[in-house]
Amino acid sequence: MSEIPTRTRIVIIGGGPAGSLLAHLLHVRGIESALLELRSREHVLERVRAGVIEHESAEILRRTGLGKRMDEEGFVHEGVNLAHSGEMLRIDFQRLTGKHVTIYGQTELQKDLFDVVDADGVPLIDEAEGVRVDGIEDHSPAVGFTRHGREHTITCDFVIGCDGAHGVTREFIPAGARRTYERQYPFCWVGLLSETPPIDDELIYASHERGFALCSMRNEHRSRYYVQGPADTTVEEWPDDRFWSELTARLPEAVADGLVTGPSIEKIVTPLRSWVSEPLRHGRLFLAGDAAHVVPPTGAKGLNLAISDVVYLVDALAGNYDRGSTAGLDEYSERAMARVWKAVRFSWWMTTMLHRFPGMSDDFERRLQKAELDYLFGSENAQRAMAENYVGLPH
Ligand code: FAD
Ligand code: DHB
Repeated sequence: MSEIPTRTRIVIIGGGPAGSLLAHLLHVRGIESALLELRSREHVLERVRAGVIEHESAEILRRTGLGKRMDEEGFVHEGVNLAHSGEMLRIDFQRLTGKHVTIYGQTELQKDLFDVVDADGVPLIDEAEGVRVDGIEDHSPAVGFTRHGREHTITCDFVIGCDGAHGVTREFIPAGARRTYERQYPFCWVGLLSETPPIDDELIYASHERGFALCSMRNEHRSRYYVQGPADTTVEEWPDDRFWSELTARLPEAVADGLVTGPSIEKIVTPLRSWVSEPLRHGRLFLAGDAAHVVPPTGAKGLNLAISDVVYLVDALAGNYDRGSTAGLDEYSERAMARVWKAVRFSWWMTTMLHRFPGMSDDFERRLQKAELDYLFGSENAQRAMAENYVGLPH
């Protein structure tokens, strides 16, 4: 790690996709920053998470020098499949929108991001504990933290909180100046990674009486699957056999026949919630990515929202330094949140349509859910609306 500075223009808290992409894009625009990360580099690089990169997110990564490995090792998907009542429907993105998505694991993107941040010479300070932010309502905020028992302080022009859903930065905005919105879903996802060939060339989202299932992939030899589980479940309750038999039961028979099972190499349980904290700015503190909004993974939007927030913020900061204009900074929260809320809506819609809600009686809500799926299966207009959102709304 390079030396810890005492002064820089921008201190970024959190080295996940939002924070490390921000550091790189600022470097491209000639703006100096330092990146603080709570965990070790190794820990951040081991986390298995998202897999779907929207059309425009991928374009941005390419334009900023991050496309090489994504284009070599990722997969372009021109459609996605929905399964329901034993039927499969392919939503043809290319035909309906002229766009596609790229399947490229967040784990791989995170590697590319740390590599580029190192090459840019941005100080990436990992194992930075007890981050504190002072003076965000003044001209020169300061960020204090402890690393390996030593206290450090970095003064700066702006502090950016990219520290994810469990981060602390947003707590430095006075409670009276921010508002949160939340919806908890009464279930979670159990995810499994295996060294097995994917069941299909494209993703399959399945709605079934027993609950939701998702078939995804990382490459020709590595598959990623998810099944809906009870809200309070644990990984220990999902030995591989139980996972595979539950997944098999939730897929149409003809599809399940092609499933290749094998030992899991990673397993997670992830709760589902929609959560938003507004606004994204207070004085000289700004928030981006999961630090300010979390969506259920069903729509594959979280990583993509982190990317769009960062793009807006870099524009705003560059306007400030290049032209002395604070208009972009003043508009950042409203501009970013307009896009965020549309993704919150889409993720909620996908989640509500495809999951089995415990306690949902066999009448009104389930009939609505079936009607929603039947409508989607039968209407090209409905399919186009889904495709447009899935490949990503324009930035
Ligand atoms: P994070 O990735 O959470 O990064 C925050 C960073 O801040 C972390 O490195 C953390 O260690 C660090 N940090 C935390 N606290 C502190 C602190 N106090 N001080 C310093 N650093 C701190 N999204 C998609 O777009 N497509 C998908 O297909 C998709 N699938 C998903 C599947 C699963 C199972 C899950 C769990 C998520 C999925 N997501 C998906 C969501 C996506 O992974 C997140 O939205 C994305 O990681 C957000 O990036 P971020 O940088 O904002 O936050
Ligand atoms: C993956 C995760 C998602 O949440 C999703 O909607 C699609 C794919 C994945 O991990 O591959």
